[in-house]
Amino acid sequence: MRRLVRETRLDPANFILPLFICTGEGVRRPIKSMPPQCQLSVDTAVEECRELVSLGISGVMLFGIPDVKDEVASGAYDDQGIVQEAVRAIKREVPGLIVITDVCNCEYTSHGHCGRIVDGDVENDSTLQWLARTAVSHARAGADIVAPADMMDGRIAALRTALDGAGYEKTPILSYAAKFASVFYGPFREAAESTPQFGDRRSYQMDPANTREAMKEIDLDIEEGADMIIMKPALAYLDVILQAKQRCNVPIGAYQVSGEYSMIKAAAANGWIDEERAMMETLTSIKRAGADFILTYFAKPAAQLLG
Ligand code: PBG
Ligand code: ZN
Repeated sequence: MRRLVRETRLDPANFILPLFICTGEGVRRPIKSMPPQCQLSVDTAVEECRELVSLGISGVMLFGIPDVKDEVASGAYDDQGIVQEAVRAIKREVPGLIVITDVCNCEYTSHGHCGRIVDGDVENDSTLQWLARTAVSHARAGADIVAPADMMDGRIAALRTALDGAGYEKTPILSYAAKFASVFYGPFREAAESTPQFGDRRSYQMDPANTREAMKEIDLDIEEGADMIIMKPALAYLDVILQAKQRCNVPIGAYQVSGEYSMIKAAAANGWIDEERAMMETLTSIKRAGADFILTYFAKPAAQLLG
């Protein structure tokens, strides 16, 4: 983890690759809008993780794609859930890789929202217990770090209390502290099959115009016990990353999200841009802005290039 948060170079040690885990065996289902990313079953994810270690990449961020979704996101906090199975397998087979789990409900709810729906809207407070149960379940499966992505208020305190109460006081919380309501999550929602069935996420994700509000969200999360934070998206918010860096002294990750990745891939596929250079330039800019580590779908090719 120290290697993960070391400050200056562009180094595979500072990369985290997001993975989408589905059920089945031997599955590598291409995600059309994010080539060559795939939905992976647990066994192929383990293979992938072995390769990541050989490239010097520090970790993965796991997203689950359950077979069944329901109103109450049961699959998120099921000890036999898809992410829990993947965590156990990866920690058993590839123990040197840091396994971070995305703690959210939107991949598990039939309506695709990140929280519990009451009267047609996400209800903040009653969503907290789902998130806390999910985080404890991930820790029990062996997750090294849990990363709440939901943007409910008070979730960090709720997770910390639940984790400590269950004996996981050593499990760090990586908070998506500043997560903007961004168009750049589009391809991810295809990948994770988590497009909201009605409305949008603007009641709980942040207005792209607001920096001071982002700083407030960060302060609150750190006060509540966040050990590290994520800024998301990255490229359109480099100024926010820089401000966060100057303001607080916890490690800061930046998430080069799906749309940032897909734009480069699409332009390169058309011969309009040099893919390798665009990849390295954007990653470097994110690091320069102050990110200690980067969540990126380019983790493998960038590590190969740096290797
Ligand atoms: C869900 C979540 C999203 C992403 C990470 N976690 C999508 C969303 O909020 O709709 C986006 C990541 C990406 O676009 O690569 N809480
Ligand atoms: Zn969500």
